[in-house]
Amino acid sequence: MKKAIISIKDLTKLELFKIFELADRRTELFHEYCNSLNHKIVGTLFFQPSTRTQLSLQSAFMKLGGQQIGFSNIEDSRSGNTYHENMEDLGRVLNTYCDVAVMRHYDENAIYELATVTDIPLISAGNGNDEHPTQAAIDLYTIKRETGHLDNIHILFIGTIPSRSMNSLILGLNMWENVTVHIIGNNTNILPAWKKYNVHLYHSINDFIKTCQDLKQIEIIYITEIKNSTSNYNYVFTEKDFALFPNAKILCPLPRTKELPKYFDYNQNSIYFNQANNGIFVRAALYLLLMNVITI
Ligand code: CP
Repeated sequence: MKKAIISIKDLTKLELFKIFELADRRTELFHEYCNSLNHKIVGTLFFQPSTRTQLSLQSAFMKLGGQQIGFSNIEDSRSGNTYHENMEDLGRVLNTYCDVAVMRHYDENAIYELATVTDIPLISAGNGNDEHPTQAAIDLYTIKRETGHLDNIHILFIGTIPSRSMNSLILGLNMWENVTVHIIGNNTNILPAWKKYNVHLYHSINDFIKTCQDLKQIEIIYITEIKNSTSNYNYVFTEKDFALFPNAKILCPLPRTKELPKYFDYNQNSIYFNQANNGIFVRAALYLLLMNVITI
């Protein structure tokens, strides 16, 4: 297994299947492995805000017997605006203070700089707009759990590019066969990394509906942030739109603003809180593999 999980592609399909199998054990996993990380310390460096990723990575580690140290705000560390300490100097101390490190950073290159000097396992909790590998592992797990498959999936994203959650999930899904990705967003281009995949971009829901041959094929609607600050794009997915997709379930990495109205919370096909709650099991399973408690 790779020591640094920065992209979803740093995990193999075999490793992802093992993570899914372990995550399926839910709280039983914590009973069986509650002492497996005794005397181990995770350093959680959140240099960008986080609720779900930070808390679930900390909680999972502690439920497996370990302890955590770290920052929730870059300005509490020497990497903030006053000292701008470089990632290499940070990495050199992490090697002795921690047994595994997790970092979220607004700069997509920071985690790669850290990885050049860290000997301990490293997990990216999101690097700029680039990737969010543990979110993608959770999303893949949730899609498999809810639909029963990852091959032959048709997914519709609603949100603007770039989005690290969208990017990692598209890269992750394409480890499986015959994946079709539709994106409704305000962008004119898809990312270069997606060009080899079956990815289609639309500018409005009407544009998509006119083109899509069978709306029943869509099993997942994935709503991510619509970045209105960069454009006048104000599309909000409505209940009327959702009624057009009889077989779809709604995922969202959260947090949400107005792109996902609260009235969707009461729809039985809204599974974004299940998705968020799956996070602790998937992230615990990743620790167990990365820390060699479980080998494949
Ligand atoms: N999905 C996600 O990354 O949520 P947080 O920003 O709250 O960690």
